[in-house]
Amino acid sequence: MTLTIQVDGMGSRSASSPLRPAVEPAFSDLVVVANRLPVKQKGGAERPVLRTIGWETSPGGLVGALAPVLSARTGAWVGWPGCSGPAPGPFDHEGMHLHPVALARSEYEAFYEGFSNATLWPLYHDAIRAPEFRADWWDAYVAVNSRYAERAAAVTAINGSVWVHDYQLQLVPAMLRRLRPDLRIGFFLHIPFPPPELFMHLPWRHEIIEGLLGVDVVGFQEPVAAQNFSRLARRVAGATGAAKHLLHGGRRIEVGAFPISIDVDAVTRIAGNPITTVRAAELRRNLGAPTTLLLGVDRLDYTKGIELRLRAFQELLRDRRLKPGECVMVQIAVPSRGEVSSYAEERERIERLVGEINGEFGQMGRPVVHYLHRSLPFPELVALYRAADVMLVTPLRDGMNLVSKEYVAARTDGAGVLVLSEFAGASRELSSALLVNPHDHEGLKHTIEAAVNLDPLEARKRMRSMRAAVRRHDVHAWAAEFLGALNGH
Ligand code: F6P
Repeated sequence: MTLTIQVDGMGSRSASSPLRPAVEPAFSDLVVVANRLPVKQKGGAERPVLRTIGWETSPGGLVGALAPVLSARTGAWVGWPGCSGPAPGPFDHEGMHLHPVALARSEYEAFYEGFSNATLWPLYHDAIRAPEFRADWWDAYVAVNSRYAERAAAVTAINGSVWVHDYQLQLVPAMLRRLRPDLRIGFFLHIPFPPPELFMHLPWRHEIIEGLLGVDVVGFQEPVAAQNFSRLARRVAGATGAAKHLLHGGRRIEVGAFPISIDVDAVTRIAGNPITTVRAAELRRNLGAPTTLLLGVDRLDYTKGIELRLRAFQELLRDRRLKPGECVMVQIAVPSRGEVSSYAEERERIERLVGEINGEFGQMGRPVVHYLHRSLPFPELVALYRAADVMLVTPLRDGMNLVSKEYVAARTDGAGVLVLSEFAGASRELSSALLVNPHDHEGLKHTIEAAVNLDPLEARKRMRSMRAAVRRHDVHAWAAEFLGALNGH
C-alpha cells in the first residue's frame, strides 16, 4: 500500500466529494473513532482550543475501559476536541495518540445539534420528540463523517482494527472501508436502535444502513436493537444470511448485542473509602436529615423522564402518601445540548416544576426538592449514591443507563432501593430492581411509594442480586468481548 501524508482540514465537503485516502507516519494497530476525544480542556471548554493550558482525561467508563487497551497496543483515538473552530494537531495523552477532528461552528450546528441531536436522537428514542428532517443537516453529517473516516484511514496501521462509536458516525464504516479495505472495522451503537416502523421515516435510511454495513462487527446494547438492524439491512439494503451473520457485498457481517457496563472496581474503591461514608452522612444532615432520601441523576434530556418523575413525587406529597420533610428528593441535572430547542424547553419545564413543588411543600430553608443544574465530581456523586435510600432511574427510553449500574456498584453496604424504567437497557440485567413503566403515571407513583416503604430485608435481597449482575459483567469485560469479536472475525 502507498502511504501519503494528509493534514486534517475543516472546510465542509458535499456528499459527493471524493474521499481522500492517506496514511500518517504514526500508525496505530487499534484506533477508536468517537464523536468526542477522551479528554477535555483544563479550565473550561469555552477556552479557545489552540491556546489550551492542557488536557485532562474525561470521566466515564468508556474512556476508563479503552485507555488501558489503547496504551497497551500503540492505540489511537480520533475525535472532536469539544470546541468549534480550528483543532490542535495530534498529541499524546496517557499512552494514547489523540487525533483531533476540527468542526466549524456551522458544522457543529448542522452536524451535532442538527442531524445528530434533533434528527437521529429523537428518532432513535421512540420519537419522544418529533425528529426534524433537513437536507442541509444531512449534508453536514456526510461531510463530517467523511472527515472522521479520512482521519482514521490516515492513522491506522495496515491490517489494523478500527472501532467506531455511536450514532453521530454511522457513515464512517462504509467510508473507511472504501479508503482502507485492509482494515477490520467494528461499530458500537450506545443508544437504542429503533424498530423498522420508525427508522423507515428517515429520508436517508438507505445511506445509514449501507454506512453501517461497512463493518465486520456491529454491536448494540440489546438483542432487540440487533434484530431491528438485521431486519432493516435485509429490507433496505438487500442483505441476506442469518440475523446474526448477515451477508452483504460479498462480505460477512456479525450483528450482536454487547451491553455496556461500568468500571465496577473504580466505583467500589471510591464507595469503600471512609471519606465517602463521612461525606454521605454529612450530605444527609445538610438535607435536613430526612427519613428517606430519593435521588435522580441524569443528563438534562427529555428522554430521561425527569419531569414525569417530579410530577409523581409532587402528587404523592399532595395525596399525603409521602410526607414533606420526611421524604426529600435530590435531582442532579447535568447540563447537556442546551442550545437545541427541545432541551432548552425541557429545562424550563423541569425548573418551573421544581419551583412549583417547593412553593407548595417546602419550608423556609428546607426545600423538598434540591435541584442542581451542573455536573458533580465523581466522588461527590458516589457519596450521594451512598446517601440515597431510593434511586429513581425512570427514562422513557435509554440505550443502557449507566447511572443505575453505578448506584448498584456504589452500594457496597448492600442497602438502597433502585426504581428502574423497563425502557432502559439496564433493566435486562437489573431485573431485581423495582421495574416501572414511566408512562404509567399511577404505576410510577405506586412504585415510588413501594420503594420508600420496601421491607429492608427484601431490599437487601434485591440489591444482592443486582450487585452480582453488575460484578459479573463490567466495562472491561464489555470491551474485551467486542474486541474479541472484531479480532476473531
Ligand atoms: O449516550 C450517547 C452519548 O452520545 C454518549 O456517548 C455521551 O456521553 C452522551 O450521549 C452525551 O453526549 P454529548 O454531550 O456528546 O452530546
